Amino acid sequence: MESIDNALHIGRVPVRAIARAYGTPTYVYDEQRIRANYARVVAAFRAHYPDFRLYYAIKANDNLAIAAIVTGEGAGIDAASVNEILLAKELGLDGERVIFSGNYLSDEDIVLGLESGVTFNLDDPSLLPRVLRFGKPDLISFRVNPGYGRSNVGDFVTNAGPNAKFGVHPDQVLDAYRAARDAGIRRFGVHMMPGSCVTDAAYFPFVTGLLMDIVGKVGVTLGIGFEFVDIGGGLGIPYRPDEMPLDLERAAQAAVEVFRAKIAQYRLAPPRLVLEPGRAIVGDAGWIVGTVHSIKRGYATIVGTDVSFNVLVRPALYGAYHGIRVDGKENGPRARFGLCGQLCENTDYWVRDRELPADIAEGDIIVVENAGAYGYAMSFRYNGRLRPAEVLVNGATHELIRAREGFEDMTRGVRIPARLR
Ligand SMILES: Cc1ncc(COP(=O)(O)O)c(C=O)c1O
Repeated sequence: MESIDNALHIGRVPVRAIARAYGTPTYVYDEQRIRANYARVVAAFRAHYPDFRLYYAIKANDNLAIAAIVTGEGAGIDAASVNEILLAKELGLDGERVIFSGNYLSDEDIVLGLESGVTFNLDDPSLLPRVLRFGKPDLISFRVNPGYGRSNVGDFVTNAGPNAKFGVHPDQVLDAYRAARDAGIRRFGVHMMPGSCVTDAAYFPFVTGLLMDIVGKVGVTLGIGFEFVDIGGGLGIPYRPDEMPLDLERAAQAAVEVFRAKIAQYRLAPPRLVLEPGRAIVGDAGWIVGTVHSIKRGYATIVGTDVSFNVLVRPALYGAYHGIRVDGKENGPRARFGLCGQLCENTDYWVRDRELPADIAEGDIIVVENAGAYGYAMSFRYNGRLRPAEVLVNGATHELIRAREGFEDMTRGVRIPARLR
């Protein structure tokens, strides 16, 4: 997003035009930015390890138009549930172009996963006999919890280590693969997802080393090879103005160096290197365009907007920070304000103290930054406040890619038993 003649633009479209055409709040994505993000991640890893593949973590943003951009560039899909597998199918992807990394799966999840032929990435050894009860996949991967996790967002989203609900304990990994081998499975992969929003490049080689030591020992002990090693997502983006971006090229180079060194140390046949990022592809390519409805000057001065936590839950859920810009008022004097949405919950007072334009006023258009990942995908309906619209910008064009919810969505599927009428 840039300010041109004091008007905020996404691509070459003024945010005011978006507000006029679609109303607010509206999520807006920049197609060219998504393509550039994808290209940069792939280039960073392929420069050092050509047998590299990216699976887009569709949970970050599951709008099919957004996923179609990424899969059109060549990405596979990382699916967390059967419905995410079905989204991938809508885009023509199945089989080994989809990794199914659900956790605590039901029998129904397992059966539907098997029917779809996707790669199973099992979160626990107890899942293997349950999968085998219904069928025998060609290839099995286990999600390893290497005992260490990290996140810029906080402990809430640390996906590995002793406090995480995810993954196989390192002491159980060998037996898990042995059981799979003994059951006649001949093709293997391995996976981890220890970090979320990490901007320290040194983290990536560190966790790659942890996983590769486990992979090496399993490979040597059982005499099995690994077709792929999936080092997860977790590539961070800066949310706060003082945060440094991840040095992606350095992270990729260092991770590959460790990867190659461990392949040599354990004399492994070189596996494919897989990454499954979400945030790094779409996070900084999405914004929310909102409106200031009123400004309360009471205990504090609070800017009331239509960007409530049902639209963007990350601040209320994790205390996450999102930058806020005000259209047409970027260059004047600044003052300190709170900012909130319209819900009947005080966690909707999601900015307590922020420098904003001193002359911010009713009717102003605000833009919330870095909302492309875990934004709309985590939105919901509450207080009769509905999910927003989604719009895709490509250069100077803009198109609706998901309609705003309407009242009919509040009553869809609801039945009032006759006795209550
Ligand atoms: C299994 C798995 N893979 C990939 C991702 C994507 O992570 P990120 O958006 O941080 O890259 C997640 C996010 O929680 C995940 O749980």
